Amino acid sequence: MADSTDMTRVTTGLVPEPLDPALEAQLAEIIDSHRAMPGALIPVLHEAQELYGYLPMPVLERISAGLKVPMTEVYGVVTFYSRFSLQPKGKYRIQVCMGTACYVKGAEALLDRLREVLHIDPGQMTTDRLFSLDQCRCIGACGLAPALIVNTEVHAKMETTQMDSLIAELRAKEGR
Ligand code: FES
Repeated sequence: MADSTDMTRVTTGLVPEPLDPALEAQLAEIIDSHRAMPGALIPVLHEAQELYGYLPMPVLERISAGLKVPMTEVYGVVTFYSRFSLQPKGKYRIQVCMGTACYVKGAEALLDRLREVLHIDPGQMTTDRLFSLDQCRCIGACGLAPALIVNTEVHAKMETTQMDSLIAELRAKEGR
């Protein structure tokens, strides 16, 4: 019978990749510092994601073993919360809110324009690793719909015509 790790690999279809050795010690520290705390899983996942920028499968395996939480539970939490990502993200993570208020006010058109400008689909990252595009659930700014988030910054009442300038400004910031 496959152990829980093998099962998760089959389920996700993601290929495990080696961890950056420079970060492994920090990950071990994060796990150790939370080990005795009840409900440690979510805070550890948060800190691990800050460290790596996302949650690669080997990191989930370390967390599972370190906290003695089954891989199926770790994976279930990561996939439940949209703030966690199993995939690498761009320097600028753009999330378009697809909640009801934003949807009825044109979120889909914003998303379509971003797809055209960035040449990627939701869930993907540009080849220069500058941008990634995602959809998200309501971000609690319904009065300002349609809204999107760039990293942690909310951009409210957005219009399709503003998408090109938003991306151009971020590229200019990076000298591109
Ligand atoms: S639906 Fe988009 S902020 Fe609530």
